[in-house]
Amino acid sequence: MTTLGTPLSPKATRVMLLGSGELGKEVLIALQRLGVETIAVDRYENAPGQQVAHHARTITMSDPAQLKALIEAERPHLVVPEIEAIATPMLEQLEAAGAVTVIPTARAARLTMDREGIRRLAAETLGLPTSPYKFCDSLAELQAAIDAGIGYPCIVKPVMSSSGKGQSKIDGPADVQKAWDYAMAGGRVSHGRVIVEGFIDFDYEITQLTVRAKGASGETDTHFCEPIGHVQVSGDYVESWQPMAMKPAAIEKSRQIAKAVTDNLGGLGLFGVELFVKGEQVWFSEVSPRPHDTGLVTLCTQHQSEFELHARAILGLPVDTSLRNPGASAVIYGGVEAQGIVFDGVDEALRVPGTDLRLFGKPESFVKRRMGVALARASDTDTARANAKLAASKVKPRQA
Ligand SMILES: Nc1ncnc2c1ncn2[C@@H]1O[C@H](COP(=O)(O)OP(=O)(O)OP(=O)(O)O)[C@@H](O)[C@H]1O
Ligand SMILES: [Mg+2]
Repeated sequence: MTTLGTPLSPKATRVMLLGSGELGKEVLIALQRLGVETIAVDRYENAPGQQVAHHARTITMSDPAQLKALIEAERPHLVVPEIEAIATPMLEQLEAAGAVTVIPTARAARLTMDREGIRRLAAETLGLPTSPYKFCDSLAELQAAIDAGIGYPCIVKPVMSSSGKGQSKIDGPADVQKAWDYAMAGGRVSHGRVIVEGFIDFDYEITQLTVRAKGASGETDTHFCEPIGHVQVSGDYVESWQPMAMKPAAIEKSRQIAKAVTDNLGGLGLFGVELFVKGEQVWFSEVSPRPHDTGLVTLCTQHQSEFELHARAILGLPVDTSLRNPGASAVIYGGVEAQGIVFDGVDEALRVPGTDLRLFGKPESFVKRRMGVALARASDTDTARANAKLAASKVKPRQA
């Protein structure tokens, strides 16, 4: 039996989000609706999730001492990482000492915080199909790896980076130096390790949202959402839709891969498994042990969005992953570098049939910063995609 408390009372159920961006904000809202007391942590003040939580805390989450001090001061029942750049070895220590429960597990947070842990687990331990790859610590090693079998075209990514930062495609020998330099400038930390991956010429890519939730007799069951198709530009998602039409054999393989990875990572919660598909062939790319940005579309397509699914699963509650209607999402970028921007055309955007908006409330805009998302439901994904893009294009961020 699951018992939940009353927020701001001695029996409150307390959940701490490590990372409080647009994805964390929706998880926090879902938790708030269940009367959970929420603590939103981020590296800067007034992050989107901090604006909707009971408590806001601002620390450097990659600093183990700061992280430990905050968790020990707040004593949350659950710690929910929403970003990768966290001092995960400290989370493992605290979890091992019984001081905290990390979602889905501290080990999963550590393995997915950089590309190496999760890639080696998927390819070498679990034997799942992935692109051919090699980890390199210098330009010379990168060139050697390409020459020894990765070949051209290939993709270079800093081991520690997300949203396509520092990532580039190499089409021939002339691009190698440039890709190395770009990776060195774009990584999250300054040690120069990269992964070079053979380029997969896929037909399309999907996110397979997968939920590990408690069943009636206490066992953990795996639930799958309908596949989400998406388009990435320079490694960053620009639009997504659900359901993605797939051959039954490709769906079957996607779910097998997703099950294998999430079984190994364990714990409770929602995972975003990124897969490449060509015909009936499926490759594992990476996995987020938390809601996925392309899954923002589920806010308008599922009975329970990926955020509600995550909130329910981590609290030990039952989940329903079923689709309600087809839909799509389209990203709204800042377009300007400014603080406290305004958005023109919100009314016009919402006049597009079947649409909805999320404006994240980020205090500062950058040209390529995701500031909002347009959502559209329709009877088919083609219409939904067109309407989501149309609605997104009507929203015009500008300096105040
Ligand atoms: N080996 C590959 N072959 C072909 N395309 C690739 C390959 N690796 C990455 N890509 C393309 O680049 C995109 C981003 O790659 P990846 O997911 O590894 O980076 P990321 O920085 O973690 O992005 P995000 O944080 O947005 O998920 C993929 O979704 C895919 O479109
Ligand atoms: Mg990715």
